Amino acid sequence: MKIIAPHTAADFRKYYRLRYDVLRAPWQQPPGSEKADDDVTATHALMLNDAGAAVGVCRLHLASTAEAQIRFMAIHPDYQGQGLGKILLHYLEEKARLQGARFITLQAREAAVTFYQNCGYTVMAQTHLLYGSIQHYQMRKALI
Ligand SMILES: CC(C)(COP(=O)(O)OP(=O)(O)OC[C@H]1O[C@@H](n2cnc3c(N)ncnc32)[C@H](O)[C@@H]1OP(=O)(O)O)[C@@H](O)C(=O)NCCC(=O)NCCS
Repeated sequence: MKIIAPHTAADFRKYYRLRYDVLRAPWQQPPGSEKADDDVTATHALMLNDAGAAVGVCRLHLASTAEAQIRFMAIHPDYQGQGLGKILLHYLEEKARLQGARFITLQAREAAVTFYQNCGYTVMAQTHLLYGSIQHYQMRKALI
């Protein structure tokens, strides 16, 4: 298992495919909905297994000099619950520190709140309902 910054067109195909499969397809969202306009200025992380297949993706974006935001966190269903999400999150937290951020915020799906709490995040507020069914919570963690 290794984490890379996707670089080539082939890397990005794997990256966006996993994002789509985990975070968009189960809610019948159209291809392309997995992409965000500000992806071009984000820091991306792609976790690959020994065969080179994508098993995890996530991105980090600086909202201000102090605040970094995590979005699009997804682990392949066959690889969930094995500690990989935690490793991927820590990888991007370290990138955030290197970029000078002092805290991280994110919008967690209800089903992922416990995961983020186990990674040191605190619920700040209940926020939006995505696709009419997925409750989100704003969460935050100080970087020390
Ligand atoms: C949420 C997700 C990213 C977590 O990744 P993961 O690799 O399965 O999680 P890990 O195995 O690294 O778990 C880390 C810790 O969180 C806990 N945890 C993970 N998912 C959990 C869940 N759904 N409920 C309760 N605890 C959970 C683990 O028990 C583990 O605890 P520990 O450190 O005390 O052992 C992954 O399950 C996923 O991609 N889910 C679907 C997409 C999604 O919801 N993404 C988040 C969008 S905001």
